[in-house]
Amino acid sequence: KVIIIDYGSQYTQLLARRVRELGVYSEVIQYDDTPSNNFGAIILSGGPKSVNEQDSLPLPKWVLESNKPILGICYGLQLLAKNLGGKVKRTEVAEYGKTEVEIIQDPIFYNIPKHIITWMSHGDSVTKLPQKYNVIAKTKNNIYAAIKFSNNIYGLQFHPEVKHTDHGEKIIKNFLFYIAKLEKNWSLNNFIDEKINEIKNEIKDKKAIIALSGGVDSSVATVLVHKAIGKNLKAVFVNHGLLRLNEENEVKKIFKDLIGINLNIVDSKKRFLNRLKNIYDPEQKRKIIGEEFIRVFEDDAKGHYDYLVQGTIYSDIIESAASGKNTAKIKSHHNVGGLPENINLKIIEPLKFLFKDEVRKIGEILGIPKHILYRHPFPGPGLAIRIIGEITEEKLNILRRADQIFIETLKEYNWYNKVWQAFTVLTSIKTVGVVGDERNYDYVLAIRSVDSVEGMTANWSKIPFDILEKVSNRITNEIKGVGRVVYDITSKPPATIEWE
Ligand code: XMP
Repeated sequence: KVIIIDYGSQYTQLLARRVRELGVYSEVIQYDDTPSNNFGAIILSGGPKSVNEQDSLPLPKWVLESNKPILGICYGLQLLAKNLGGKVKRTEVAEYGKTEVEIIQDPIFYNIPKHIITWMSHGDSVTKLPQKYNVIAKTKNNIYAAIKFSNNIYGLQFHPEVKHTDHGEKIIKNFLFYIAKLEKNWSLNNFIDEKINEIKNEIKDKKAIIALSGGVDSSVATVLVHKAIGKNLKAVFVNHGLLRLNEENEVKKIFKDLIGINLNIVDSKKRFLNRLKNIYDPEQKRKIIGEEFIRVFEDDAKGHYDYLVQGTIYSDIIESAASGKNTAKIKSHHNVGGLPENINLKIIEPLKFLFKDEVRKIGEILGIPKHILYRHPFPGPGLAIRIIGEITEEKLNILRRADQIFIETLKEYNWYNKVWQAFTVLTSIKTVGVVGDERNYDYVLAIRSVDSVEGMTANWSKIPFDILEKVSNRITNEIKGVGRVVYDITSKPPATIEWE
């Protein structure tokens, strides 16, 4: 396994993923974390700071003391240089973006051409090195692009993990297998078997409960833990009345009938809708739904459960660690049905070291239907935050049908998988129209679709006009109550993805 120390680069997750794609398990830690002891190599990530700043993140002592192979990238390289007798300075030329590098032969560049384009992003450079270290690649500006500190300690000024670096993957591969001599032994099949055993040994004949939302992460966690403990897992699906059309039946069909999971559907529609009566404020809506969810879940979990399974995944953890926030807090804020904080249960998070794409692959291996694994994200508060202002049954019915039409049409034109998230919003504003020869006064419905990676930033999707036209025609023809359809062309920032 490879330990990656995260110095705050936006590419750290990418780096961890590249290592795993090459068949070696990787774990991201912070510089002040204690590493587990069975690692075979260390990678130091890039980072936004200068190693010369007072509050720059240091190289922990154990790194050099471990005598393990080390690869420093960008900030990581400069940190190694600084700690091994070199000098790092702000140079006149800062290099950002694609930069040509000339390579001098070395095992880490095995099978790589003499001139390659690399991706750089640095203002500081290593300017001086003791003679015993070799510069093994340079840029045109004569800046050290790669340094060999010893037979197993290397630094790269450029980012091999980024696709813009030619042969970047090969360089990482050379480090892992020629320099660090690691074995290729990480695979998702192994992971599943090991995880199932681990969970079996931990839970034994005790009982566990999970809040199943029908989203990717909780679905995969449910099936994985079910494989380990069978009937002793109870999955609770809370229908808060703010779900999409047919959602409950869909989830029931898949988990109860297809996969045979002990699924408990809790119908709390009335409970939620009653509490949401006369509520207009988005934050208040979210708060009520969050609280109510936890109560429903607690009522159902009362007594007899020892474990709570959660579908936390790696990006949840890395992101929260990098921003210095505490994981539980982000989850309970961001995920309705997240951690009920005062519930007296031990937590099991079987997916917490996996990336989203790995979670999906595991889902496929476990036989979860693709349309569950590749569906768009859906917020915990559901349609409540897609109806501006007060929520009524009438509005919910309109929104459900509009959503269905939009999604169905995207799928029909093969656009569903091209966008990250698509949905409709009922604005609660009414405008004038004409139907036949009659005046009409009906709701404005907005359609929203965005392209994104993790939802932190997003661009509105450039969906072809003929698709938008079809969606608009179908919605105004088929749904009574909608008189006008508009397309939201705002990115995030400044807007958020959801309207509330
Ligand atoms: P925003 O609107 O913040 O949304 O740009 C970013 C992503 O998060 C989803 N979202 C939520 N998911 N509970 C969730 O589980 C929430 O309270 C929540 N609010 C927003 C949103 O659908 C988008 O994918």
